[in-house]
Amino acid sequence: MEDFSFQNKTAIRFGKHHIDEELHDAVAQFAQKVLLTYGGGSIKKSGLYDRVQKALADLQVFELSGIAPNPKIDSIRDGQKLAKAHDIDVILSVGGGSVLDASKVIASAKFYDGDAWDLVADRGAQSRSDIDQLPVVDILTLSATGSEMNAGSVISNSDLNIKLGTYGPNTPAVSFLDPQLTYSVSKWQTAAGSFDVFSHLAEQYFDRATANDVTSGIIEGMMRSVIKWAPVALAEPDNYDARANLMWGATMALNGIARSGNKNGWTVHPIEHELSAYYDITHGVGLAILTPRWMKRVLSGETQARFARYGREVWHLTGKDDLDVAQRAIQATYDWIKSLDIPMTLPGVAINSEEKFVEMAQEAVRIGNLNQNGGYVNLTVDDVTALYHDSMTTAGFE
Ligand code: NZQ
Ligand code: ZN
Repeated sequence: MEDFSFQNKTAIRFGKHHIDEELHDAVAQFAQKVLLTYGGGSIKKSGLYDRVQKALADLQVFELSGIAPNPKIDSIRDGQKLAKAHDIDVILSVGGGSVLDASKVIASAKFYDGDAWDLVADRGAQSRSDIDQLPVVDILTLSATGSEMNAGSVISNSDLNIKLGTYGPNTPAVSFLDPQLTYSVSKWQTAAGSFDVFSHLAEQYFDRATANDVTSGIIEGMMRSVIKWAPVALAEPDNYDARANLMWGATMALNGIARSGNKNGWTVHPIEHELSAYYDITHGVGLAILTPRWMKRVLSGETQARFARYGREVWHLTGKDDLDVAQRAIQATYDWIKSLDIPMTLPGVAINSEEKFVEMAQEAVRIGNLNQNGGYVNLTVDDVTALYHDSMTTAGFE
């Protein structure tokens, strides 16, 4: 087990009965001027928007709407202007990971006078850790990213074909997690979000730290939970237990607990972020297509014991030896993803040409530092290009 520091200050209000009673005070504790941020309108359809307006009736509420999936820097720039113009005190972010991610960066941008992209690309005179950040309160409506309890954001710049992770000094101050709000999430986004959770767990499970049984066991339990409940949520969208386990699982997968004592180099995420940056595909779907191919590519004499443990503990598999169990576990992963109705190839998400593969692989290796970041297995540009290529067909899996 490696040395680590752990601290997380987000207050969680989980379940059916917190929002109407507690939202006002959770926001008003930070003063009166609120920037309400949301996406393309799902919160209006569900009635949540009206509930929020009612709860905040005596506060001054300004709005930023239209934050898109794979949130774009233009929304951050708009939010920065609003936050400065109205001297906003607190952001109330209502939506999925994209809305939360954008809100956390707007919360920093209020205190920066230059272009908000500087803060994401960490290229200005000041980085986000040098400046203040508005408090963010959120109401989560989609289980996936863990943004509700971490300091990260992932922001896209469509002009530059870049999607970058950025970290602020603070996690959200208060997160309201009501699983009922996710009943209306589409099958596509439910499957994508569930796989995003699984991928966060896998990125932290396949790790070079040794003898870290506490973290390994926590991750295995959470993997079993998402494997069990994702199909239930797809079949019965308003199954509370399924939505509750997916929601808390999403939060717990990426709030720092599952990385404690690890070495923490991620691999599949930087490779997926290039797919989203170039083709604007759904993050969790990109991860689902890449992950079984990545597993197959990094399985070796050195890694097979870990994959065999994954097979035994997560999938309850047996076999004649470690290699056998490891291979079955990778196939089981693929079969589970397929059962969620996720397209299993890049052409399935309308990526039909290999022309950008080398360029994307170069960016993934550069941004993710994949050939030397202490991730599970180092990957070169050729390895990543081959991984994209492997994802064009179902060869080797069907
Ligand atoms: O915009 P609206 O109308 O709200 O619709 C959204 C959006 O179209 C819809 N939706 C959300 N809640 C709903 C709903 N539809 C019906 N009912 C509801 N209750 O779902 C669509 C997708 O929303 P989005 O926020 O984009 O999804 P998700 O939560 O999966 O977020 C994905 C983004 O988070 C980043 C990803 O890269 C991607 O940009 N990530 C953030 C991370 C972090 N902050 O730690 C880590 C992750 O690895 C990830 O990279
Ligand atoms: Zn993710």
